[in-house]
Amino acid sequence: MTKALVPTMGALHGGHLALIDRARELADEVVVSIFVNPTQFGAGDDFDRYPRTLDADRELIADRAEIFVPSIDEVYTPGQPPDAIDAGARGDMWEGASRSGHFDAVLTVVNRLFDMTQPGIAVFGEKDWQQLALVRSMAAERHPNIRVVGVPTVRDNDGLAMSSRNRYLSAAERETAALIPVALNDIVAEAGSAESVARARQKLEQSGIDVDYLAVIDPVSLNEVGPNAPARVVIAARVGATRLIDNMRVRDLPKR
Ligand code: PAF
Repeated sequence: MTKALVPTMGALHGGHLALIDRARELADEVVVSIFVNPTQFGAGDDFDRYPRTLDADRELIADRAEIFVPSIDEVYTPGQPPDAIDAGARGDMWEGASRSGHFDAVLTVVNRLFDMTQPGIAVFGEKDWQQLALVRSMAAERHPNIRVVGVPTVRDNDGLAMSSRNRYLSAAERETAALIPVALNDIVAEAGSAESVARARQKLEQSGIDVDYLAVIDPVSLNEVGPNAPARVVIAARVGATRLIDNMRVRDLPKR
């Protein structure tokens, strides 16, 4: 009997359903955890307004998976310091550069969720590429019996990666945000060349998108890479008040 865990913060959408479907292919029992982890939100982040749609979430996955909604006191036992995990140098890169401590908090809660649910498989979206890379390392070290599975990003018809935060976008912002996957596709089509990255960044900024980072990186070390190495192109950008992240494969990863 194999159990798969799909850790989420709720506000479930088609991207989560793809994770659940993959989990169902791989395991006999699928548990979807819903926990909006306060510690992974920074001071200026959207913890207070993060969408909480528990009834709709329950309905959406009712016939697909069990749901696990731990309370804050179950996750972080009052009076007991959590088993805090340091994400290391890779946790300070890209997302971590502007969200200090974010990945320490993500790994700490994922480790706790693993301990609480004891899965054989854990399924994460490739949309949060850096998170996936860090969770893989944490699991290899602390939970060698858990197989971490990444699932390709699901996109809406306009190409935008599905995200719980897309609901913050106005109609006009949504149109602008759809330029992000176009830019990534352009970079992929040009094999991740430095010129293509510079051109894409300029186009996005001319459209009013505030690019935080846009880089072609090694999928595991997360360092910037030149031509011929396996690579992903990663981006974080603000459209209006909404910060979006996305990434695409530029060149293949070695098989794992
Ligand atoms: O990707 C998310 O939804 C969260 O970072 C996670 C993995 C559920 C940890 O809170």
